[in-house]
Amino acid sequence: MILSLRLQNIADIVSSDSIVADIGSDHGLLPISLVVNKRTKKTYAIDIAIKPLNQAKDNIMKYDVGNSVYPILSDGLENLPDDVNTLVFSGMGSKTIINIISKDISKLKNISEIIMEPNIGSYDIREFMSSLNYSIVFEKTILENDVYYDIIKCSLGKQELTTREKLFGPYNLKHIDINFINKWTLIRKKMVSLVRKIPESSPQKNKFIEELSLIDEILKTTID
Ligand SMILES: C[S@@+](CC[C@H](N)C(=O)[O-])C[C@H]1O[C@@H](n2cnc3c(N)ncnc32)[C@H](O)[C@@H]1O
Repeated sequence: MILSLRLQNIADIVSSDSIVADIGSDHGLLPISLVVNKRTKKTYAIDIAIKPLNQAKDNIMKYDVGNSVYPILSDGLENLPDDVNTLVFSGMGSKTIINIISKDISKLKNISEIIMEPNIGSYDIREFMSSLNYSIVFEKTILENDVYYDIIKCSLGKQELTTREKLFGPYNLKHIDINFINKWTLIRKKMVSLVRKIPESSPQKNKFIEELSLIDEILKTTID
């Protein structure tokens, strides 16, 4: 089976033989592919809504993985099985991911790895994971259909992050690649035009200017 580039990059960093729950799984293609490609033996496709869960069930039947991919109707981690040790959150905003985890923090007791692809708000995700004593062990910037996505993998372990690391990602900063440079060049362009439009009196203006100078500093190191 062929996954989208975004989902394939997530699948590629799932630790082999982990037991994965894909939260907000929708079609279920990620947990199905992990089993079909023998990366893991057992996965869960979790969704809050019946319609996407039925789609996941149809796909589970289609790929004949009913004895290893289990669909579960659940609001976030509410009905998370105890044997899960890895969570995946993809295609959701940071606020939704943070709300889901905050609501059921005790469910993290067996979770050693969390992989996230927040559609927006990577800064907040990094800050939140650090506050929960997870550390970022891998990051990647993906470009798919003209949209940049951040993929962030965390493992249990303490990690303090600077503002710069929360903004760009501590792993990204040590492994700068072309997608990272292009993404931040694009953001810079949008921010420059935004800052010009913000009135001097607005408290937002300084925040954007500070962020712009951090972006300039990083992009400069990629040219030097
Ligand atoms: C945009 S889809 C993302 C699907 C897939 N993860 C991907 O990346 O392609 C978001 C899914 O999250 C589900 N969802 C939203 N809030 C949820 C929650 N609190 N618990 C479980 N699933 C949720 C939605 O029903 C929807 O199917």
